[in-house]
Amino acid sequence: MTSPALRARLCAVHGELRALVEDLDDEAYRTQFHPDLSPIGWHLGHCAFIENYWLREVILGEDRLTKHLAHYYIPARSLKTARGPALPSRQQLLNDVRRQQIDNIELLSTLSARTHALLEDDYLIRFLVQHHCQHIENMKLARTQRALHNGHAGFAPAVRLASAPVNLACHALAADRYRIGGRCPGSFDNELPAHAVRCGEFKIARRPVSNAEYLRFIEDGGYRTRRLWSDVGWHWLQQAGVSHPEHWRQDGRGWWFGIDGSGAHELSAEEPVHGVSYHEAQAFAVWAGARLPHEYEWEIACRAGKLSLIGRVWEWCGNVFHPYGGFTAFPYEEYSLPWFDGGHYTLRGGCIHTSPDVRRASFRNFYAPDKRHIFAGLRLVFG
Ligand code: AVJ
Ligand code: FE
Repeated sequence: MTSPALRARLCAVHGELRALVEDLDDEAYRTQFHPDLSPIGWHLGHCAFIENYWLREVILGEDRLTKHLAHYYIPARSLKTARGPALPSRQQLLNDVRRQQIDNIELLSTLSARTHALLEDDYLIRFLVQHHCQHIENMKLARTQRALHNGHAGFAPAVRLASAPVNLACHALAADRYRIGGRCPGSFDNELPAHAVRCGEFKIARRPVSNAEYLRFIEDGGYRTRRLWSDVGWHWLQQAGVSHPEHWRQDGRGWWFGIDGSGAHELSAEEPVHGVSYHEAQAFAVWAGARLPHEYEWEIACRAGKLSLIGRVWEWCGNVFHPYGGFTAFPYEEYSLPWFDGGHYTLRGGCIHTSPDVRRASFRNFYAPDKRHIFAGLRLVFG
């Protein structure tokens, strides 16, 4: 039998998915708030589709719920811009999905590892929970984008965010062979195989770069200083025309404040900065006389218990997302393989919207270097 605890977790995730749609009006439900993010309603339908696909189509050989929707819910087969108008009504989707979620939990209680190899160690439930949680994070990112569009002209922070010099507190890790990679039964294909890497000595910051430190970079003309930026980064900056993190705004006095899913708020000086692209993170690191960590350094330091404030912001790493030696794609080719294209960088850690189900030392997120909507910041490596 599949694990009752994991089924309960999947059931809770089902509720979270629906709740993120239940409190929207019909318009917000189908609006695309950011070019890289699907309408919030689509995520709910996509998660139901993915679950029906694995449980009903793959395991039971029954495609009644999936065949006619594959062109719409398989991301590579539909344009994000076409997804909003094609959604069923909000109430219709909520009703359909709720029914399917109940049926799927019920079905899972009757299945066992003997039915299908995907159910060994409860792999499929673990996969579905982690898959859906990543979509919940995307839905929350879309809600943040909605708040950004609303504007907050009236907001005035009570305290002025003051800049601060870069905090040099760090931990040294010795040159050695270290084991990296997934260790839990739900690890994604890109975390495997676990293997040893040889790593030179390095010094990694205890904390991610804070809002106050990032403000110092801005005040010091970081966005205007060519030599801090890579060629691609500088080119991106000219096109993007940005001069501060995505979720920062200034009031009439020039005081900075932040915007999140629930609106405007004070920016805390100590809190890790987020809303910066890889290019900005990289320029900041050069400005600070440091560099971004390689993702192996991040994982090694994390396992050694050396990193504070993990999980507030995704942390850009200096290396591209790549397959580990002996990589095998599962449960399907497109989960990781298309993104090993040299155009994506690895991020580690997790942000405030990231579920505990995907928070682990080996988890690898990946995005193109110009993305700023993902609650990503950085941590420095010195020397
Ligand atoms: C790894 C977070 C970039 O959200 O597109 C969800 C995760 N993969 N469904 C994404 C994912 C398939 C993915 N990220
Ligand atoms: Fe997905």
